[in-house]
Amino acid sequence: MAKAKIAVIGAGLIGLSTAVCISDSISDCSVTVIADRFTPNTTSDVAAGMLIPHIYPGTPVHQQKQWFRETFDYLSAICNSPEASEAGIHLRSGWQIFKTVPDEKMPFWSDVVLGFRSMTEREMKKFPQHKFGQAFTTLKCDCPQYLIWLEKRLKENGGQVQARKIEDLWELHASYDIVVNCSGIGSRKLIGDLEIYPTRGQVLKVHAPWATHFIRDGDGLTYIYPGIHNVTLGGTRQKNDWNLSLDPGTSKDIFSRCCALEPSLQTVQDVQVKVGLRPSRSAVRVQKETLVHGNKKLLVVHNYGHGGGGFSVHQGTAKEATRLVKECIEALQKIRYKAKL
Ligand SMILES: Cc1cc2nc3c(=O)[nH]c(=O)nc-3n(C[C@H](O)[C@H](O)[C@H](O)COP(=O)(O)OP(=O)(O)OC[C@H]3O[C@@H](n4cnc5c(N)ncnc54)[C@H](O)[C@@H]3O)c2cc1C
Ligand SMILES: *[C@@H]1O[C@H](CO)[C@@H](O)[C@H](O)[C@H]1NC(C)=O
Ligand SMILES: *[C@@H]1O[C@H](CO)[C@@H](O)[C@H](O)[C@H]1NC(C)=O
Ligand SMILES: *[C@@H]1O[C@H](CO)[C@@H](O)[C@H](O)[C@H]1NC(C)=O
Ligand SMILES: *[C@@H]1O[C@H](CO)[C@@H](O)[C@H](O)[C@H]1NC(C)=O
Repeated sequence: MAKAKIAVIGAGLIGLSTAVCISDSISDCSVTVIADRFTPNTTSDVAAGMLIPHIYPGTPVHQQKQWFRETFDYLSAICNSPEASEAGIHLRSGWQIFKTVPDEKMPFWSDVVLGFRSMTEREMKKFPQHKFGQAFTTLKCDCPQYLIWLEKRLKENGGQVQARKIEDLWELHASYDIVVNCSGIGSRKLIGDLEIYPTRGQVLKVHAPWATHFIRDGDGLTYIYPGIHNVTLGGTRQKNDWNLSLDPGTSKDIFSRCCALEPSLQTVQDVQVKVGLRPSRSAVRVQKETLVHGNKKLLVVHNYGHGGGGFSVHQGTAKEATRLVKECIEALQKIRYKAKL
């Protein structure tokens, strides 16, 4: 059979990681990534990229844990290779702290991250407003380096990249056999999925090479995430807010919340402000669908709706989407075989 032609819509974290996974594991196909935004202009570029799971209420916990473990193991291998610095992957140790003791002292992911334990009384002295804390080591993906690295790997595998906006999936019918939809918040318009909504996040990127431990308030709102080149200070979670303008009042508020946890940040000089719209949904959608239009059929694999936790699960969902693409290719082969008879 001729090579299956696959279009992946989206050049954020999910589109690129899915395209790389497909091109790594399916030999008889060509992969083209199509998007209207590329690094450094995607939501994925705004993110801190910490591997700390976000909870998807509509996805079973065992599934979320499996995706997290697969992603953690995949990135650990990169981190433990000569590629680590180019890919922007590194280990980070730090603290998650709580003002009131949480019901679940051991989150489902506690045995996936490294060295998870409760903080000692001496460690808690740094945070007099907080009653309880957890110490652990996890991984962090710095963007844009990670996206640039994924795009390079895709091209090494023979994949292609096209800059264009897709108004309707049927535009791709004539040129592709299978369309993989990794359009993030773009899905709301593109597929008309009204279950997906934006959760606006504003962050500061600052130069503070002395800050090496991460600190996250358990409410998920205030965090200090050191990366290789700068530190991400957050944040906000504004449901259904589409505003991509930077809000100066919010920046001041974020800065003072972070300085309350880490007073040494008061002296930072370089501050960049960024805003992104998290593609929120109660469950990540990784699903196969056959669209029908008259006598035409289009095979689609969806992979979107990663909300505030795309980095934490991206390799797990990329593998799942790749499995669905394989099933589509098998179905195509059957149809073509029958047509020949
Ligand atoms: C402030 C902030 C902090 C975050 N921190 C973390 C963190 O620490 N850890 C973590 O795990 N997650 C974090 N996240 C979440 C993470 O950023 C997202 O889950 C992830 O980036 C989603 O990736 P994506 O590829 O689905 O979306 P995007 O990066 O938005 O990519 C979507 C792509 O689809 C393309 N597209 C859309 N519609 C069309 C169309 N019609 N035609 C052509 N192309 C189209 C776009 O151009 C783009 O290339 C954070 C998010 C924010 C906003
Ligand atoms: C990112 O956006 C800026 C401003 O709109 C634009 O000038 C630049 O070309 C974009 N970069 C890419 C890689 O698309
Ligand atoms: C991708 O999926 C979303 C959600 O179902 C949909 O709105 C959008 O039209 C799809 N994109 C394409 C190009 O089909
Ligand atoms: C943050 O790091 C990026 C490189 O990844 C750099 O382009 C940017 O200028 C840095 N910002 C600050 C405030 O240091
Ligand atoms: C978007 O945010 C900016 C900055 O806070 C504000 O000035 C502007 O009015 C907002 N726009 C809308 C449409 O709410």
